[in-house]
Amino acid sequence: MRTRYRFGCLGLCIDVGLFRSIPMKDFKYLDLIEQIRKEFKIDYYGDHGISHWRRVYYNTQKLSSHYEIESEVFELFSLLHDSKRHDEFKDKYHGKRAACFVEDLLQVGSIVLNDEDAERLIYACANHTHSDKKNPLFNDKIVQICFDSDRLDIGRVGYIVNPEYLATNYAISLITGGQ
Ligand SMILES: [Fe+2]
Repeated sequence: MRTRYRFGCLGLCIDVGLFRSIPMKDFKYLDLIEQIRKEFKIDYYGDHGISHWRRVYYNTQKLSSHYEIESEVFELFSLLHDSKRHDEFKDKYHGKRAACFVEDLLQVGSIVLNDEDAERLIYACANHTHSDKKNPLFNDKIVQICFDSDRLDIGRVGYIVNPEYLATNYAISLITGGQ
C-alpha cells in the first residue's frame, strides 16, 4: 500500500487531481439540466447533485482523453445517472429510474443519440451501482469510463476509492500510482 493512502480519501483524491469539476458554461445540455433540477427530489447541491455531476463529467474527460475517445454519452451520463434518486443513500432502484428517464428523453427527442450510444447510456445509468456483468456492454470502454468516473468521486461521501471496483487500467493507475 502506498504512503498516500495514509492521508485518507480526501488527501488521496486531491493528490490524483480528482475533486475538479467542469464549469457550467462547458455543459451543452443546459435545458436538460434545468429540467432535471426542477424534477429533482433531493438536494440539488447535496452529495448526489450538481457538484457531483460536474466532477463526474470532469473525470469522464480525464479518462476519455487518455483513451482518445469522444462520446456524447459522457456528459449525459454525468447529468442523468443520479437524476432520479429519492434519497442520498442506497436507493436501490435509482439507476433503473434514470434509465427509464433516458428512454423517455430519447422518445420525445430531448436527447438524440445513435442506437449504440442510446444503449450505452441506458445500460450505464441502470447498472452504475449494481452491474449486469453478463451484458456485453459491461466491457464497453465508454460504459467503463462512466462507471469509473462516478466511483472516482466516492471520496466526497467519506469513502476511499477502491481500485477493485474500477474497470479501466488508467483509473486504477490514478489511485494506485501504477503499483
Ligand atoms: Fe453518482
